[in-house]
Amino acid sequence: MWRLLRCKPALPLAAVPLALAVRKKDGQRSYQRCQEQASPQFKRVLVTGGAGFLGSHICRRLLAEGHEVMCLDNYFTSTRSGIADLMGHPRFEFIRHDVTEPFFCECDMIYNMACPASPVHYQWNPIKTTKVSVLGTIHMMGLAKRVKARILQASTSEIYGDPEVTPQSEDYWGHVNTIGVRSCYDEGKRVTETLAFDYLRMNNVDIRVARIFNTYGPGMHPYDGRVVSNFILQALHDEDITIYGDGSQTRSFGYVDDTVDGLIRLMNQAGLPAVLCIPCFCQNSWWRFFVVT
Ligand SMILES: NC(=O)c1ccc[n+]([C@@H]2O[C@H](COP(=O)([O-])OP(=O)(O)OC[C@H]3O[C@@H](n4cnc5c(N)ncnc54)[C@H](O)[C@@H]3O)[C@@H](O)[C@H]2O)c1
Repeated sequence: MWRLLRCKPALPLAAVPLALAVRKKDGQRSYQRCQEQASPQFKRVLVTGGAGFLGSHICRRLLAEGHEVMCLDNYFTSTRSGIADLMGHPRFEFIRHDVTEPFFCECDMIYNMACPASPVHYQWNPIKTTKVSVLGTIHMMGLAKRVKARILQASTSEIYGDPEVTPQSEDYWGHVNTIGVRSCYDEGKRVTETLAFDYLRMNNVDIRVARIFNTYGPGMHPYDGRVVSNFILQALHDEDITIYGDGSQTRSFGYVDDTVDGLIRLMNQAGLPAVLCIPCFCQNSWWRFFVVT
């Protein structure tokens, strides 16, 4: 038997079950319940897209920090197996739901990550992709307003479109095609940022916007069509590695633990409407953080 989670300092009269992960004879993990003192920072956190690549890592990190996690997903690009290790955890709850439909729960924080992220996935049904960004964000911003939760909106480097400036500076607003096959994702994510700042200005919703650049690591979809997974699969199959274009393109890549670390720190930063670009290797830094006034 080995302990998965550490007990945190006590909150008066507050106690939540502690998960002790136990290895059974067949090698699978199960959880035993005992009492854990809740952390003073204990939060109820909703993670939309929580079964996906980034969402599942966020859920794991939040559980390890002692929070209660509600993972909302419709398994569009993910499967149960991606979060199988979390099922049965006493502070983890899975909710099968589509963010394009209204949703209500009591929560303190929302990570709005739900959206197909790779071109093969978001181009499969581009109208639905736009709905996920527009309707999904309206529903989650509305929920944050109603229950006074802090909300982190996942955006992307794709909001710069086909940029004329590389690396992009804080005052660069992008160069985006409104009618191309990538527009459903690029323009959808631009609207998520617009919605976030309009909910801040109109309703004083406590927002964070994270412009996420290419992230890689355990749990990423092997057939997402992106360069890191392509390279790894070709190497594993002992095939030649495909170099796109003339090979001179540059990208910012980040390991998933670092990206999740940045997202959680952005969420926990008090009192700033801010945009975080992560990872972004420019100006000798792995992220750029700017406060929007
Ligand atoms: N991974 C990256 O490099 C990267 C880069 C830029 C931005 N992002 C953003 O981060 C977020 C997560 O990306 P990811 O790489 O984990 O993608 P992913 O495809 O692995 O995860 C997205 C999750 O959202 C769920 N989802 C999709 N549509 C939904 C809907 N209508 N209702 C409920 N759930 C839905 C999917 O089933 C999946 O579990 C996305 O918003 C994406 O745009 C990711």
